[in-house]
Amino acid sequence: MAVLVLGGAGYIGSHTVDRLVEQGQDVVVVDSLVTGHKAAVRPEAKFYQGDLADKPFMRKVFSENPEIDAVIHFAAFSLVAESMKDPLKYFDNNTAGMVKLLEVMHEFNVNYIVFSSTAATYGIPEKMPIKEDDPQNPINPYGESKLMMEKIMRWADQAYGVKFVALRYFNVAGAKPDGSIGEDHHPETHLLPIVLQVAQGKREKLQIFGNDYNTPDGTNVRDYVHPFDLADAHILAVDYLRKGNESNAFNLGSSTGFSNLEIVEAARDVTGKPIPAEMAPRRGGDPDSLIACSDKARKVLGWKPQFDDIHKIIETAWAWHSTHPNGYDDK
Ligand code: UFG
Repeated sequence: MAVLVLGGAGYIGSHTVDRLVEQGQDVVVVDSLVTGHKAAVRPEAKFYQGDLADKPFMRKVFSENPEIDAVIHFAAFSLVAESMKDPLKYFDNNTAGMVKLLEVMHEFNVNYIVFSSTAATYGIPEKMPIKEDDPQNPINPYGESKLMMEKIMRWADQAYGVKFVALRYFNVAGAKPDGSIGEDHHPETHLLPIVLQVAQGKREKLQIFGNDYNTPDGTNVRDYVHPFDLADAHILAVDYLRKGNESNAFNLGSSTGFSNLEIVEAARDVTGKPIPAEMAPRRGGDPDSLIACSDKARKVLGWKPQFDDIHKIIETAWAWHSTHPNGYDDK
């Protein structure tokens, strides 16, 4: 038995590979290194550089590693704002890539896949916290590309018996507590790393995109979850499939919402830096609030997140960014 981690050099993928290796599991990693970092991958994992949509390449990976019985699929583009400007990039890479991957998995009789879905599949929720069977009406192409992937998997299960777990993450933030792996995007677009770059003096100020949303302070509210806890959820989901359970979908969040202004305040507390911030116009594709109900993952998968405090999450991110001011320094 071995797990193939697609996108294992990325932010969440590298934390999952780290946890799998710590548990003594056999791990094969595929990453195109377009956004991932080779330095983020534990050397114990067997590494291939390539694109999961390249079927001859993926056939080689499965042929050379016949012990692979499960796939964890992180390899996707994931920026809401970019997807609004370039939707076809998202439908091609994320959605069409999934079709090609499932074809090769089916050829090699690999029947378990855990995949990164997203809170963005829900669009503008009718009620909060969001439950898994609430309506999914995405308001951006990124969320749409992931919802299409979920639907494709349902039909692939029905026809070929490929069992899946879709993990719908909310906003991911934080780094491995020892500061050895963390978030490193080029360019960086996510709130917390940008806030911390301002704290480091790498940016002059933060722009907060919109203060006229339907939320208590007018800025967007998001639910933050740590990659360490996400990694555990993926490993639990692989176990769940290996035990012969049915395909399923789970929300992964902390069930607590923080506004963008509250995140800046919390980061000021953690770093002791002033972090200047100014209001700016709305960014397209942002729903007012996204808060998860994660009871189902706790109950069915036995998920027990350890980072339930936003200050703890920001402390781990700060440990990474302050020791790696230029990230992995490989781009
Ligand atoms: N924001 C700012 N200023 C910035 C950057 C972000 O105000 O410089 C705001 C955004 O407008 C949004 C919030 O901070 O209100 C969070 O934005 P991020 O870009 O950090 O994250 P998103 O909510 O856009 O998206 C993230 C992931 C998606 C995932 C989504 C789920 O990138 O893959 O969380 O909620 F789908």
